[in-house]
Amino acid sequence: MSNESQYLARTHYLDEEVAASYEQKRYSGRLGKYRYEREQAGVGAVIAQLPNDLHFLDVPCGIGRWWPMLEAHASRIDGLDISPAMLAEAEKRVASSSVPVSVNVGDAESLELPDDSVDAVFSHALMKHLPIPLQAQVLGEFSRVSRSWVVCAFSVVETFSYQLWRRRSFEDSYPLLPEQLSDLADSAGLDIVDRKRCTTPLGIEYSVLFRTAS
Ligand SMILES: C[S@@+](CC[C@H](N)C(=O)[O-])C[C@H]1O[C@@H](n2cnc3c(N)ncnc32)[C@H](O)[C@@H]1O
Repeated sequence: MSNESQYLARTHYLDEEVAASYEQKRYSGRLGKYRYEREQAGVGAVIAQLPNDLHFLDVPCGIGRWWPMLEAHASRIDGLDISPAMLAEAEKRVASSSVPVSVNVGDAESLELPDDSVDAVFSHALMKHLPIPLQAQVLGEFSRVSRSWVVCAFSVVETFSYQLWRRRSFEDSYPLLPEQLSDLADSAGLDIVDRKRCTTPLGIEYSVLFRTAS
């Protein structure tokens, strides 16, 4: 583990209670349901652009809540997460999946997979927790193991002042400027195809579709 790896999300989800209440805590109540619908719509608009029959790597898969959406484009899904507690929740969903699904402990910073071993990497709600050099490292790993596609959520802000405001307001949150996102894509050897906001109109999270550079 590098010195950059001291971010909260690496350890927060190891707690069994955090894992068990993950979905209920985020998406209950009127605001939670609204956020859920916006997130589904934004990510869904990106996933809809993918072809079918893809071998997906979902990392971090958390409790496996994106699998019903991925399944429509999947031949199989391999879920990885650093938290055994989150994976225990995910395992409860494996039997109801319409495609083969595996779940394993794994570290997005250093994937134990060969180059070009899946068709697509899907990653939601990880990058925003990582210091920017680590976002670059992890996106590089996604690019290395994917033959064709990466779908990955980032926090993106349009102005530097807003970024500073957010950094003062939220610890452990690492938004990017659009040009920083482009730089990360370039250094990972990826082309940005599209991005869709996947939160409320005031939020800054985007699901980004990348193609491996030919
Ligand atoms: C906010 S949750 C998102 C989970 C899932 N993608 C979702 O959208 O529901 C963040 C997840 O990242 C996992 N995580 C944090 N650092 C990780 C790492 N280096 N490698 C793999 N998983 C990691 C946590 O265990 C947690 O399950």
